Amino acid sequence: MRLVITDSYEQMGLEAANIVAGQIYLKPNSVLGLATGSTPVSMYERLVLVHRTVGLDFSEVTTFNLDEYIGMRPDNSQSYHYFMQENFFRHINIRQENVYIPDGMAEDTVAEGRRYEQLIAAKGGIDLQVLGIGQNAHIGFNEPDVKFAATTHKVELDEETIQANSRFFNDASEVPRYAISMGIKTIMMAEHVIMLANGKNKARAVYKALCGDVTPEAPASILQLHRDVTVIVDKEAASLLPADIHDIQIKNLCR
Ligand code: F6R
Repeated sequence: MRLVITDSYEQMGLEAANIVAGQIYLKPNSVLGLATGSTPVSMYERLVLVHRTVGLDFSEVTTFNLDEYIGMRPDNSQSYHYFMQENFFRHINIRQENVYIPDGMAEDTVAEGRRYEQLIAAKGGIDLQVLGIGQNAHIGFNEPDVKFAATTHKVELDEETIQANSRFFNDASEVPRYAISMGIKTIMMAEHVIMLANGKNKARAVYKALCGDVTPEAPASILQLHRDVTVIVDKEAASLLPADIHDIQIKNLCR
């Protein structure tokens, strides 16, 4: 595991974008796993800039998003389909047929999970997975006490997640209760993983993910067992990490 602590949210996005851009330069037909939410927005902005200024080419790239709310039509402005188009896809030259997001309208969520896993496998697996982290240390929508062996499946959102995500809605009662999400196994099968976090409200989750026991109670802690993870956090999200993390190679950009 590598840890990068940045001075600011923008710098976190820049570091993450550099890794994603490097991945695409090295392998133009890369398969990316992508996240939604506030955290990766600065990364997407930076990637759009790199596309516009130096022509970073997404024409051969395939993407798989982590999750989608159940019952959410793609054209609903609260959907993750919509989020991805607005924040990223419509600004770059990705082919829409290479964009995959779980179908929140699928009647049979078990079949949808299976279909999604088969699609990922058919594309050769995920080369680089981008993750945010929830305040309860969820990754994707794998809430505490998830089964580590799970693949893409229907999940019930925790009350904490519903409250956290209510900032995107008029109030908490509008937040969907269920989602379909890649499972921990899907995420762990990615070749490389980058996990991003910013802000003080993520400090506890980051501490649990990096320094706590590997336990389903803190789903992100499983990343300690992945062979190639880069954690990029701003200094606020890093504020509870001990100064002497021995088994993590620290590349501190601000000192
Ligand atoms: C989003 C996702 C979630 C978020 C997490 C943090 O696709 O899977 O795990 O990454 O809830 O959300 P933000 O970035 O809004 O704090």
